[in-house]
Amino acid sequence: MTTPWHYRYALRTEGMGSSVIRELLKFTEEPDVISFAGGLPAPEVFPVDRFREATDRVLREHGPQALQYGATEGYLPLRRLIVDLMARYGIYAQEDNVLVTSGSQQALDLIGKVLLNSGDKVLTERPTYLGALQAWRSYQARYVTVPIDQDGLRTDLLEEALRAGPKFMYILPNFQNPGGVTLSLERRLELVRMADHYGTPIIEDDPYGRLRYSGDHLPPLVVMDCDYLESRASDGHGYFTGNVIYTSTFSKTLAPGLRLGWIVAPVDVIRRCVQAKQGMDLHTSSFVQMVAYEVARDGFLEQHVRHIRQVYAQRRDVMLDSMARYFPDEVTWTRPEGGLFLWAWLPEAIDTVALLPEAVESQRVAFVPGNAFYPDGTGRNTMRLNFSNAKPEMIEEGIRRLGLVLKRKLAQEEPVVQLVPPVAA
Ligand SMILES: Cc1ncc(COP(=O)(O)O)c(C=O)c1O
Repeated sequence: MTTPWHYRYALRTEGMGSSVIRELLKFTEEPDVISFAGGLPAPEVFPVDRFREATDRVLREHGPQALQYGATEGYLPLRRLIVDLMARYGIYAQEDNVLVTSGSQQALDLIGKVLLNSGDKVLTERPTYLGALQAWRSYQARYVTVPIDQDGLRTDLLEEALRAGPKFMYILPNFQNPGGVTLSLERRLELVRMADHYGTPIIEDDPYGRLRYSGDHLPPLVVMDCDYLESRASDGHGYFTGNVIYTSTFSKTLAPGLRLGWIVAPVDVIRRCVQAKQGMDLHTSSFVQMVAYEVARDGFLEQHVRHIRQVYAQRRDVMLDSMARYFPDEVTWTRPEGGLFLWAWLPEAIDTVALLPEAVESQRVAFVPGNAFYPDGTGRNTMRLNFSNAKPEMIEEGIRRLGLVLKRKLAQEEPVVQLVPPVAA
Protein backbone atom coordinates (compact mmCIF):
# COMPACT_ATOMS: atom_id res chain seq x y z
CA MET A 1 0.00 0.00 0.00
CA THR A 2 1.35 3.47 -0.78
CA THR A 3 1.47 5.88 2.17
CA PRO A 4 -1.04 8.75 1.88
CA TRP A 5 1.61 11.27 2.87
CA HIS A 6 -0.69 14.25 3.10
CA TYR A 7 -2.35 12.67 6.17
CA ARG A 8 1.00 12.59 7.88
CA TYR A 9 2.18 16.15 7.38
CA ALA A 10 2.47 18.21 10.56
CA LEU A 11 -0.04 21.00 11.08
CA ARG A 12 2.76 23.53 10.76
CA THR A 13 3.18 22.66 7.08
CA GLU A 14 -0.27 24.09 6.31
CA GLY A 15 1.04 27.66 6.30
CA MET A 16 4.11 26.82 4.25
CA GLY A 17 2.90 26.46 0.65
CA SER A 18 5.28 27.09 -2.16
CA SER A 19 5.76 30.76 -2.85
CA VAL A 20 3.41 31.83 -5.65
CA ILE A 21 6.01 34.28 -6.77
CA ARG A 22 8.71 31.67 -7.16
CA GLU A 23 6.29 29.67 -9.31
CA LEU A 24 5.47 32.75 -11.39
CA LEU A 25 9.08 33.66 -11.79
CA LYS A 26 10.04 30.36 -13.37
CA PHE A 27 8.89 31.55 -16.76
CA THR A 28 10.78 34.84 -16.47
CA GLU A 29 14.07 32.98 -16.67
CA GLU A 30 14.13 32.45 -20.44
CA PRO A 31 17.30 33.98 -21.90
CA ASP A 32 15.63 36.68 -24.00
CA VAL A 33 13.61 38.03 -21.06
CA ILE A 34 15.00 41.15 -19.34
CA SER A 35 14.24 40.34 -15.75
CA PHE A 36 13.99 42.83 -12.90
CA ALA A 37 12.34 40.09 -10.90
CA GLY A 38 15.07 38.28 -8.97
CA GLY A 39 17.06 39.72 -6.09
CA LEU A 40 20.37 38.64 -7.53
CA PRO A 41 23.64 40.54 -7.15
CA ALA A 42 25.53 41.26 -10.39
CA PRO A 43 27.58 38.15 -11.25
CA GLU A 44 30.30 40.40 -12.76
CA VAL A 45 31.24 41.68 -9.29
CA PHE A 46 31.91 38.31 -7.70
CA PRO A 47 35.63 38.25 -6.78
CA VAL A 48 36.26 34.86 -8.35
CA ASP A 49 40.08 35.10 -8.47
CA ARG A 50 40.31 36.08 -4.82
CA PHE A 51 38.09 33.08 -3.98
CA ARG A 52 40.33 30.77 -5.99
CA GLU A 53 43.44 31.93 -4.13
CA ALA A 54 41.66 31.81 -0.75
CA THR A 55 40.39 28.27 -1.35
CA ASP A 56 43.86 27.14 -2.27
CA ARG A 57 45.40 28.76 0.80
CA VAL A 58 42.78 27.27 3.16
CA LEU A 59 43.34 23.77 1.80
CA ARG A 60 47.12 24.16 1.79
CA GLU A 61 47.48 25.67 5.25
CA HIS A 62 44.41 24.39 7.18
CA GLY A 63 43.13 21.47 5.06
CA PRO A 64 42.16 18.99 7.79
CA GLN A 65 40.53 21.70 9.97
CA ALA A 66 38.54 23.02 7.00
CA LEU A 67 37.20 19.56 6.26
CA GLN A 68 36.43 18.68 9.89
CA TYR A 69 33.29 19.35 11.99
CA GLY A 70 33.45 22.74 13.66
CA ALA A 71 31.89 24.78 16.47
CA THR A 72 28.17 25.63 16.10
CA GLU A 73 28.89 29.29 16.95
CA GLY A 74 31.12 29.59 13.89
CA TYR A 75 34.80 29.85 12.94
CA LEU A 76 36.39 32.11 15.55
CA PRO A 77 38.49 34.30 13.22
CA LEU A 78 35.37 34.93 11.11
CA ARG A 79 33.36 35.85 14.21
CA ARG A 80 36.15 38.26 15.18
CA LEU A 81 36.05 39.76 11.70
CA ILE A 82 32.27 40.21 12.09
CA VAL A 83 32.81 41.87 15.48
CA ASP A 84 35.22 44.35 13.82
CA LEU A 85 32.77 44.94 11.00
CA MET A 86 29.99 45.64 13.46
CA ALA A 87 32.21 48.04 15.43
CA ARG A 88 32.55 50.20 12.31
CA TYR A 89 28.79 50.69 12.60
CA GLY A 90 28.99 51.54 16.30
CA ILE A 91 27.75 48.07 17.29
CA TYR A 92 30.01 47.06 20.16
CA ALA A 93 29.49 43.32 20.25
CA GLN A 94 31.93 40.64 21.37
CA GLU A 95 32.48 37.17 19.89
CA ASP A 96 29.95 35.72 22.36
CA ASN A 97 27.27 37.92 20.81
CA VAL A 98 27.84 36.53 17.31
CA LEU A 99 26.49 33.36 15.72
CA VAL A 100 27.45 32.51 12.14
CA THR A 101 24.46 31.16 10.21
CA SER A 102 23.86 29.51 6.84
CA GLY A 103 22.71 32.74 5.22
CA SER A 104 20.70 35.32 7.12
CA GLN A 105 17.69 33.33 5.95
CA GLN A 106 18.69 30.70 8.51
CA ALA A 107 19.05 33.46 11.10
CA LEU A 108 15.40 34.38 10.51
CA ASP A 109 14.33 30.75 10.77
CA LEU A 110 16.32 30.30 14.00
CA ILE A 111 14.74 33.40 15.48
CA GLY A 112 11.31 31.97 14.64
CA LYS A 113 12.22 28.63 16.15
CA VAL A 114 13.49 30.18 19.36
CA LEU A 115 10.86 32.90 19.85
CA LEU A 116 7.57 31.86 18.24
CA ASN A 117 4.80 29.70 19.61
CA SER A 118 1.98 28.66 17.31
CA GLY A 119 -0.43 31.58 16.88
CA ASP A 120 2.02 34.26 18.05
CA LYS A 121 1.78 37.56 16.25
CA VAL A 122 4.71 39.14 14.42
CA LEU A 123 4.64 42.82 13.52
CA THR A 124 6.05 43.51 10.06
CA GLU A 125 6.29 46.38 7.67
CA ARG A 126 3.78 46.30 4.79
CA PRO A 127 5.25 45.29 2.32
CA THR A 128 8.04 43.20 3.83
CA TYR A 129 10.64 40.56 2.95
CA LEU A 130 8.89 37.48 1.62
CA GLY A 131 11.50 35.05 2.98
CA ALA A 132 10.78 36.14 6.55
CA LEU A 133 7.06 35.60 6.06
CA GLN A 134 7.77 32.15 4.67
CA ALA A 135 10.12 31.25 7.52
CA TRP A 136 7.71 32.27 10.26
CA ARG A 137 4.60 30.88 8.63
CA SER A 138 6.06 27.45 9.32
CA TYR A 139 6.00 28.35 13.04
CA GLN A 140 2.31 29.24 12.57
CA ALA A 141 2.86 32.96 13.12
CA ARG A 142 0.13 35.49 12.42
CA TYR A 143 0.99 38.91 11.06
CA VAL A 144 0.15 42.40 12.21
CA THR A 145 1.29 44.95 9.66
CA VAL A 146 2.15 48.64 9.51
CA PRO A 147 2.52 50.39 6.13
CA ILE A 148 5.67 52.08 4.86
CA ASP A 149 6.06 55.33 2.96
CA GLN A 150 9.14 57.06 1.48
CA ASP A 151 10.60 57.37 5.03
CA GLY A 152 10.11 53.73 5.92
CA LEU A 153 7.79 52.33 8.60
CA ARG A 154 4.89 54.67 9.45
CA THR A 155 5.71 54.97 13.16
CA ASP A 156 2.62 57.17 13.59
CA LEU A 157 0.57 53.99 13.02
CA LEU A 158 2.75 51.73 15.16
CA GLU A 159 1.07 52.11 18.51
CA GLU A 160 -2.21 50.48 17.50
CA ALA A 161 -0.33 47.51 16.00
CA LEU A 162 1.78 47.16 19.16
CA ARG A 163 -1.39 47.01 21.23
CA ALA A 164 -2.20 43.74 19.41
CA GLY A 165 0.67 42.25 21.47
CA PRO A 166 3.16 41.01 18.84
CA LYS A 167 5.98 38.80 20.06
CA PHE A 168 8.47 40.91 18.12
CA MET A 169 8.73 43.48 15.33
CA TYR A 170 10.59 42.66 12.13
CA ILE A 171 12.14 45.79 10.66
CA LEU A 172 14.36 46.45 7.62
CA PRO A 173 15.66 49.97 8.28
CA ASN A 174 18.04 50.30 5.32
CA PHE A 175 16.93 50.17 1.65
CA GLN A 176 14.14 47.83 2.56
CA ASN A 177 13.43 44.72 0.52
CA PRO A 178 11.09 45.13 -1.30
CA GLY A 179 10.35 48.86 -0.91
CA GLY A 180 13.85 50.31 -1.27
CA VAL A 181 13.02 52.88 1.43
CA THR A 182 15.14 53.88 4.44
CA LEU A 183 13.79 54.52 7.90
CA SER A 184 14.43 58.16 8.84
CA LEU A 185 16.42 59.09 11.95
CA GLU A 186 13.37 60.51 13.74
CA ARG A 187 11.41 57.34 13.08
CA ARG A 188 14.29 55.14 14.25
CA LEU A 189 14.27 56.95 17.55
CA GLU A 190 10.50 56.71 17.82
CA LEU A 191 10.68 52.99 17.06
CA VAL A 192 13.23 52.13 19.76
CA ARG A 193 11.32 54.30 22.23
CA MET A 194 8.09 52.43 21.49
CA ALA A 195 9.85 49.05 21.56
CA ASP A 196 11.00 49.88 25.07
CA HIS A 197 7.64 51.29 26.14
CA TYR A 198 5.69 48.22 24.96
CA GLY A 199 8.43 45.71 25.85
CA THR A 200 8.40 44.42 22.25
CA PRO A 201 11.78 43.36 20.86
CA ILE A 202 12.96 44.31 17.37
CA ILE A 203 14.52 41.98 14.80
CA GLU A 204 16.68 44.31 12.70
CA ASP A 205 17.41 42.68 9.34
CA ASP A 206 20.19 44.58 7.59
CA PRO A 207 21.53 42.76 4.53
CA TYR A 208 21.92 45.97 2.49
CA GLY A 209 23.21 48.48 5.07
CA ARG A 210 26.69 48.65 3.54
CA LEU A 211 25.36 49.29 0.05
CA ARG A 212 24.58 53.00 0.38
CA TYR A 213 24.99 55.08 -2.79
CA SER A 214 23.74 58.48 -1.64
CA GLY A 215 22.61 60.27 1.52
CA ASP A 216 24.12 59.98 5.00
CA HIS A 217 24.69 56.83 7.00
CA LEU A 218 22.08 56.39 9.74
CA PRO A 219 22.78 54.51 12.96
CA PRO A 220 21.43 50.95 13.19
CA LEU A 221 18.46 50.39 15.50
CA VAL A 222 20.62 48.23 17.73
CA VAL A 223 22.94 51.19 18.38
CA MET A 224 20.08 53.62 18.97
CA ASP A 225 18.47 51.13 21.30
CA CYS A 226 21.70 50.78 23.30
CA ASP A 227 22.00 54.55 23.50
CA TYR A 228 18.38 54.90 24.47
CA LEU A 229 18.57 52.27 27.17
CA GLU A 230 22.06 53.31 28.20
CA SER A 231 22.67 49.61 28.26
CA ARG A 232 26.30 49.66 27.30
CA ALA A 233 27.50 48.69 30.76
CA SER A 234 29.25 45.34 30.61
CA ASP A 235 27.21 42.48 32.01
CA GLY A 236 30.24 40.25 32.10
CA HIS A 237 29.44 38.78 28.67
CA GLY A 238 29.46 41.77 26.37
CA TYR A 239 27.61 44.96 25.76
CA PHE A 240 24.38 43.49 24.55
CA THR A 241 21.47 43.58 26.89
CA GLY A 242 18.94 45.54 24.84
CA ASN A 243 15.77 45.00 22.80
CA VAL A 244 17.28 44.37 19.38
CA ILE A 245 18.49 41.25 17.58
CA TYR A 246 20.53 42.23 14.53
CA THR A 247 21.14 40.07 11.47
CA SER A 248 23.20 40.56 8.34
CA THR A 249 24.91 38.58 5.61
CA PHE A 250 27.85 38.25 3.23
CA SER A 251 25.39 37.48 0.40
CA LYS A 252 25.30 41.02 -0.98
CA THR A 253 28.91 42.02 -0.25
CA LEU A 254 30.79 38.81 -1.21
CA ALA A 255 28.54 36.18 -2.79
CA PRO A 256 25.12 34.66 -1.99
CA GLY A 257 26.29 31.17 -2.96
CA LEU A 258 28.46 31.11 0.18
CA ARG A 259 25.29 30.96 2.30
CA LEU A 260 26.93 32.93 5.11
CA GLY A 261 25.10 35.26 7.44
CA TRP A 262 25.16 36.12 11.14
CA ILE A 263 23.14 37.08 14.19
CA VAL A 264 24.28 39.63 16.79
CA ALA A 265 22.26 39.33 19.98
CA PRO A 266 22.44 39.18 23.78
CA VAL A 267 24.49 36.18 24.91
CA ASP A 268 21.47 34.34 26.25
CA VAL A 269 19.64 34.62 22.92
CA ILE A 270 22.77 33.42 21.09
CA ARG A 271 22.93 30.42 23.40
CA ARG A 272 19.33 29.45 22.55
CA CYS A 273 19.95 29.96 18.84
CA VAL A 274 23.05 27.76 19.06
CA GLN A 275 20.96 24.98 20.59
CA ALA A 276 18.32 25.41 17.86
CA LYS A 277 20.97 25.43 15.14
CA GLN A 278 22.51 22.21 16.43
CA GLY A 279 19.22 20.50 15.64
CA MET A 280 19.16 22.02 12.16
CA ASP A 281 22.63 21.61 10.69
CA LEU A 282 25.16 21.28 13.58
CA HIS A 283 27.13 24.20 12.13
CA THR A 284 27.64 26.24 9.00
CA SER A 285 30.26 24.75 6.65
CA SER A 286 33.74 25.12 8.23
CA PHE A 287 35.32 25.15 4.79
CA VAL A 288 33.11 27.97 3.50
CA GLN A 289 33.64 30.06 6.64
CA MET A 290 37.41 29.69 6.39
CA VAL A 291 37.43 30.62 2.71
CA ALA A 292 35.17 33.64 3.33
CA TYR A 293 37.49 34.76 6.12
CA GLU A 294 40.54 34.49 3.83
CA VAL A 295 38.71 36.45 1.13
CA ALA A 296 37.42 39.20 3.39
CA ARG A 297 40.54 39.77 5.52
CA ASP A 298 43.23 42.46 5.21
CA GLY A 299 40.81 45.13 4.02
CA PHE A 300 39.63 43.29 0.91
CA LEU A 301 35.97 43.38 1.96
CA GLU A 302 36.04 47.17 2.37
CA GLN A 303 37.73 47.66 -0.97
CA HIS A 304 35.29 45.28 -2.67
CA VAL A 305 32.22 46.95 -1.13
CA ARG A 306 33.46 50.29 -2.52
CA HIS A 307 33.59 48.71 -5.98
CA ILE A 308 30.08 47.20 -5.67
CA ARG A 309 28.67 50.54 -4.56
CA GLN A 310 29.96 52.19 -7.74
CA VAL A 311 28.48 49.51 -9.99
CA TYR A 312 25.07 49.48 -8.30
CA ALA A 313 24.82 53.25 -7.92
CA GLN A 314 25.15 53.59 -11.69
CA ARG A 315 22.50 50.91 -12.28
CA ARG A 316 20.11 52.54 -9.82
CA ASP A 317 20.55 55.88 -11.57
CA VAL A 318 19.96 54.37 -15.00
CA MET A 319 16.77 52.72 -13.76
CA LEU A 320 15.46 55.91 -12.12
CA ASP A 321 16.27 58.03 -15.18
CA SER A 322 14.66 55.50 -17.51
CA MET A 323 11.52 55.30 -15.38
CA ALA A 324 11.21 59.08 -15.47
CA ARG A 325 11.49 58.86 -19.26
CA TYR A 326 9.36 55.86 -20.13
CA PHE A 327 6.81 55.28 -17.35
CA PRO A 328 3.34 56.80 -17.54
CA ASP A 329 2.57 59.70 -15.20
CA GLU A 330 0.07 57.66 -13.19
CA VAL A 331 2.85 55.46 -11.77
CA THR A 332 4.87 56.52 -8.71
CA TRP A 333 7.99 54.89 -7.29
CA THR A 334 10.56 55.01 -4.50
CA ARG A 335 14.04 56.51 -4.91
CA PRO A 336 16.32 54.21 -2.93
CA GLU A 337 19.54 55.53 -1.43
CA GLY A 338 21.05 52.04 -1.55
CA GLY A 339 20.30 48.32 -1.75
CA LEU A 340 19.05 46.39 -4.77
CA PHE A 341 15.39 47.28 -5.25
CA LEU A 342 12.84 49.93 -5.93
CA TRP A 343 9.09 49.80 -5.63
CA ALA A 344 6.34 51.12 -7.86
CA TRP A 345 2.68 51.92 -7.16
CA LEU A 346 0.30 51.67 -10.09
CA PRO A 347 -3.29 52.85 -10.33
CA GLU A 348 -5.62 50.63 -8.26
CA ALA A 349 -7.27 49.11 -11.35
CA ILE A 350 -4.06 47.41 -12.49
CA ASP A 351 -3.39 43.94 -11.16
CA THR A 352 0.32 43.19 -11.47
CA VAL A 353 -0.20 39.43 -11.01
CA ALA A 354 -2.23 39.43 -14.24
CA LEU A 355 0.14 41.91 -15.86
CA LEU A 356 3.30 39.79 -15.42
CA PRO A 357 2.45 37.07 -18.00
CA GLU A 358 1.36 39.78 -20.42
CA ALA A 359 4.63 41.68 -19.93
CA VAL A 360 6.70 38.53 -20.43
CA GLU A 361 4.76 37.40 -23.50
CA SER A 362 4.41 40.71 -25.29
CA GLN A 363 7.60 42.57 -24.34
CA ARG A 364 9.90 39.92 -22.78
CA VAL A 365 10.32 41.90 -19.57
CA ALA A 366 9.65 40.74 -15.99
CA PHE A 367 9.12 42.16 -12.48
CA VAL A 368 7.79 40.79 -9.21
CA PRO A 369 4.10 41.44 -8.51
CA GLY A 370 4.03 43.26 -5.17
CA ASN A 371 1.22 41.36 -3.44
CA ALA A 372 3.61 38.53 -2.51
CA PHE A 373 5.26 40.91 -0.04
CA TYR A 374 2.02 41.75 1.74
CA PRO A 375 1.23 39.27 4.51
CA ASP A 376 -2.50 39.77 3.81
CA GLY A 377 -2.16 39.36 0.00
CA THR A 378 -3.21 42.94 -0.80
CA GLY A 379 -0.97 45.33 -2.77
CA ARG A 380 -1.98 43.92 -6.16
CA ASN A 381 -1.31 47.26 -7.84
CA THR A 382 2.38 47.28 -6.83
CA MET A 383 5.61 45.82 -8.21
CA ARG A 384 9.23 45.34 -7.15
CA LEU A 385 12.05 46.08 -9.57
CA ASN A 386 15.62 44.91 -9.05
CA PHE A 387 18.39 47.09 -10.45
CA SER A 388 21.54 45.19 -9.45
CA ASN A 389 21.45 42.23 -11.79
CA ALA A 390 20.99 43.60 -15.33
CA LYS A 391 23.65 45.67 -17.11
CA PRO A 392 22.86 49.39 -17.58
CA GLU A 393 21.93 49.14 -21.28
CA MET A 394 19.57 46.25 -20.50
CA ILE A 395 18.02 48.23 -17.66
CA GLU A 396 17.18 51.08 -19.98
CA GLU A 397 15.75 48.76 -22.64
CA GLY A 398 13.77 46.74 -20.07
CA ILE A 399 12.25 49.85 -18.53
CA ARG A 400 11.35 51.14 -21.99
CA ARG A 401 9.51 47.88 -22.66
CA LEU A 402 7.81 47.91 -19.27
CA GLY A 403 6.74 51.49 -19.90
CA LEU A 404 5.03 50.31 -23.12
CA VAL A 405 3.23 47.50 -21.26
CA LEU A 406 2.02 49.92 -18.59
CA LYS A 407 0.88 52.55 -21.06
CA ARG A 408 -1.04 49.97 -23.06
CA LYS A 409 -2.68 48.59 -19.92
CA LEU A 410 -3.65 52.02 -18.70
CA ALA A 411 -5.20 52.85 -22.05
CA GLN A 412 -7.32 49.67 -21.77
CA GLU A 413 -8.33 50.58 -18.23
CA GLU A 414 -9.42 54.08 -19.22
CA PRO A 415 -12.95 54.44 -17.82
CA VAL A 416 -15.66 54.39 -20.48
CA VAL A 417 -17.37 57.75 -20.34
CA GLN A 418 -21.08 57.15 -19.98
CA LEU A 419 -23.53 59.78 -21.01
CA VAL A 420 -26.01 59.92 -18.17
CA PRO A 421 -29.05 62.14 -18.60
CA PRO A 422 -29.05 64.90 -15.98
CA VAL A 423 -31.15 64.08 -12.95
CA ALA A 424 -33.78 66.66 -12.18
CA ALA A 425 -32.99 68.48 -8.94
C1 LIG B 1 15.74 41.40 3.72
C2 LIG B 1 16.44 40.11 3.51
N1 LIG B 1 16.73 39.35 4.57
C3 LIG B 1 17.36 38.17 4.42
C4 LIG B 1 17.73 37.71 3.17
C5 LIG B 1 18.41 36.38 3.06
O1 LIG B 1 19.69 36.51 2.61
P1 LIG B 1 20.79 35.37 2.75
O2 LIG B 1 20.13 34.16 3.31
O3 LIG B 1 21.32 35.18 1.39
O4 LIG B 1 21.81 35.92 3.69
C6 LIG B 1 17.46 38.48 2.04
C7 LIG B 1 17.81 38.00 0.70
O5 LIG B 1 17.56 38.58 -0.31
C8 LIG B 1 16.80 39.72 2.21
O6 LIG B 1 16.50 40.52 1.18
